[in-house]
Amino acid sequence: MSLSTMTNPIRSVQAEAPARPAPLVHIRDLRVRYAPDAPVVLDGVDLDLFPGETVALLGSSGSGKSTLMKSLTGFAPITGGTVRVGDVDVAGLRHGRLRSLRAQTGQIFQQFNLIGRLSVLTNVLTGGLHGAGPVNALGTFRSADRKRALALLDRVGIAHKAGEPARSLSGGQQQRVAIARALMQNPRVILADEPVASLDPRMSRTVLELLRSISREEGIPVLVSLHVLPLALEHSDRIVGLRHGEIVVSGRTTELDASLLAPVYDIEEEEEED
Ligand SMILES: Nc1ncnc2c1ncn2[C@@H]1O[C@H](COP(=O)(O)OP(=O)(O)OP(=O)(O)O)[C@@H](O)[C@H]1O
Ligand SMILES: [Mg+2]
Repeated sequence: MSLSTMTNPIRSVQAEAPARPAPLVHIRDLRVRYAPDAPVVLDGVDLDLFPGETVALLGSSGSGKSTLMKSLTGFAPITGGTVRVGDVDVAGLRHGRLRSLRAQTGQIFQQFNLIGRLSVLTNVLTGGLHGAGPVNALGTFRSADRKRALALLDRVGIAHKAGEPARSLSGGQQQRVAIARALMQNPRVILADEPVASLDPRMSRTVLELLRSISREEGIPVLVSLHVLPLALEHSDRIVGLRHGEIVVSGRTTELDASLLAPVYDIEEEEEED
């Protein structure tokens, strides 16, 4: 009998069921209020983020999108439930361990948050300094880091601007630099809070496709909050809709449409006001 015909039937059956990867972010029954006498901002929120997926977060202004992202970096007070990133329980973190969590979290903001007078390359290199103390190492970056920063700028299609001051770039270009800077951190997860709110429709698509391809290719989960529903339908794998701090819709993007997502918005209330 050849080796190939000697397979153990029981073992081969077991091998057929591929294990689902563990979520990198695991949120259960999250409750947030900013002060003991303040209103509850997030209530009973459950969310898992898996490697390689892009999850769009939808919700009206004040629904709690930014707060949900902040709960993953210890910037929002977790008053109930569980928030885990990898095997780290965020609620209990202090000082050095909190800094280390933040260093491993790529954050993208609406206003890019680059240092305008510094070169694009230096801005990307500062991503690698996260958690390394004050930015006093400027000008003394290792050549391996410079190479990596340039490769990341190439990845986001903007290597030709490496020597320019960041403020001389267009909004879309600056957001791509911010993405390269986040990647320089070797992030476990990327949180993009309205990353395209200041960009025109064409550049919005470019930036969102870039985030999604990074997520797929690097296996990094991306949580991206968006105001424009068609962009969420076009550029995400899953959509989570928040309303008044609670998840009212959650599902695979291919199974959702504008009418199924209507409960996310206060459409009836807005109509009544008209
Ligand atoms: N630091 C804070 N202290 C007190 N209340 C806060 C704080 N940050 C947010 N809130 C409140 O929490 C609620 C949710 O705010 P959050 O910024 O998370 O909403 P959002 O969905 O991101 O809104 P937007 O679309 O306008 O960015 C709001 O009522 C807001 O006033
Ligand atoms: Mg917000």
